[in-house]
Amino acid sequence: MANIVWLKKYSVGVEEFDFHHKKIFALIGQYGDLLRSQEKNKMLDKLLSELNKYIDYHLAAEEEDFKKYGYPEEKMHIKIHNGFRAKIGDLIERAGEPGIYKEVDDFLADWWINHILKIDKKYTKFFNDHGLY
Ligand SMILES: [Fe+2]
Repeated sequence: MANIVWLKKYSVGVEEFDFHHKKIFALIGQYGDLLRSQEKNKMLDKLLSELNKYIDYHLAAEEEDFKKYGYPEEKMHIKIHNGFRAKIGDLIERAGEPGIYKEVDDFLADWWINHILKIDKKYTKFFNDHGLY
C-alpha cells in the first residue's frame, strides 16, 4: 500500500469523524513518506507514537458516541477497535525488527481503508437519524 489519500467515498457522514479520519490518513501518509525517504528509525517511532495517540483519541470519540446514542452495533464495533489496538500494540513492541516499519505502514493503510468502508459506514444512517452529521 503506497498511497493513502482520503476521498469523498470514505465519508462516514459525520463531520467530526471524517475530520479525524482525514487526519489519520495524513499521518499514515507522512509515515509512508518517511519510510520511503530512508530517514532514521527514531523519527518513524516518534511519528508512529503521535499517530497511535491520535488514533486512540479517535477510537474513543467514536465509542463515546456509540454509548451516548445507544448504537445497536456498539459491541461488535468496539471489538474490532480492540483488535486494532492489540495488533498495533504488538507491532510497536516489535520496533527495530527488520521490515517492521513497512509492515506497520501496510497494516495501517489497509486496516483504515477497510474499517471505514466496511465498518464505520454502517453507523452513518444511525448517527444521521439521531441528528449527528
Ligand atoms: Fe471505527
